[in-house]
Amino acid sequence: MAWSLGWKAPRTRRGLLLQAVRSSGLPLFPWRGAGHVLDPEVKAFLEENTEVTSSGSLTPEIQLRLLTPRCKFWWERADRWPHSDPYWAVYWPGGQALSRYLLDNPDVVRGKSVLDLGSGCGATAIAARMSGASRILANDIDPIAGVAITLNCELNQLKPFSILTKNILNLEQENWDLVVLGDMFYDESLADSLHQWLKNCSQTYGTRVLIGDPGRPQFSGHSIQHQLSKVVEYVLPEPTRQENNGLTTSTVWDFQP
Ligand SMILES: C[S@@+](CC[C@H](N)C(=O)[O-])C[C@H]1O[C@@H](n2cnc3c(N)ncnc32)[C@H](O)[C@@H]1O
Repeated sequence: MAWSLGWKAPRTRRGLLLQAVRSSGLPLFPWRGAGHVLDPEVKAFLEENTEVTSSGSLTPEIQLRLLTPRCKFWWERADRWPHSDPYWAVYWPGGQALSRYLLDNPDVVRGKSVLDLGSGCGATAIAARMSGASRILANDIDPIAGVAITLNCELNQLKPFSILTKNILNLEQENWDLVVLGDMFYDESLADSLHQWLKNCSQTYGTRVLIGDPGRPQFSGHSIQHQLSKVVEYVLPEPTRQENNGLTTSTVWDFQP
């Protein structure tokens, strides 16, 4: 069964997945740096329990390690749920649209500094690298996402980029040419924080902000809508539709406060 935002996943695969990660000794402090030494047990765990795939998404040129029905933790039951949800194990429709757009329009990122906020599996940061971004930070609050992003970067034989797994929304902002966010507006309070943070970023540094979203209610009903212009809308491939409970398209928006 598909795992999607706003819907409680079966306790099966994600519970066992995360329980196993905890018992593998994942450090509980922020993890940084693609190309650095990875915890070998976590790396082995992810390699064993994900499938390398490039099909079923908008970007067949990007390979990713994801949780698929061919992975045992997709099906197995769990009686404990010790960690946060493994968002990094899914390639979300919002990220797919953003990545497709960056791959088709390399001028948007070539030679630019790019922050992928809420990077998950790292696909949009990978697309930015493929399209020639000069400096990239993939940021996610989940330390396991940091490991997954590193593996996915290696999988695509790309020069490593920086990864930071801590919440930067309360920190002093850096000057980025472009901030990209795929499927980050799935929670109302997170949406409010992001809106404020992006507004500051844009007004302080003139940062361009691109948001990928498949029409989630927390995004469509948010006041940020008054400050968006549509860049492009993509029809989602059938496997992504099936995994996302009826969502059919995903759109890239330009945020102009
Ligand atoms: C739905 S996933 C989208 C992942 C990816 N952008 C994509 O489209 O495939 C949302 C991601 O945001 C991360 N996240 C949530 N709150 C965050 C925050 N305050 N800062 C950074 N990442 C955050 C989650 O851990 C998760 O990986």
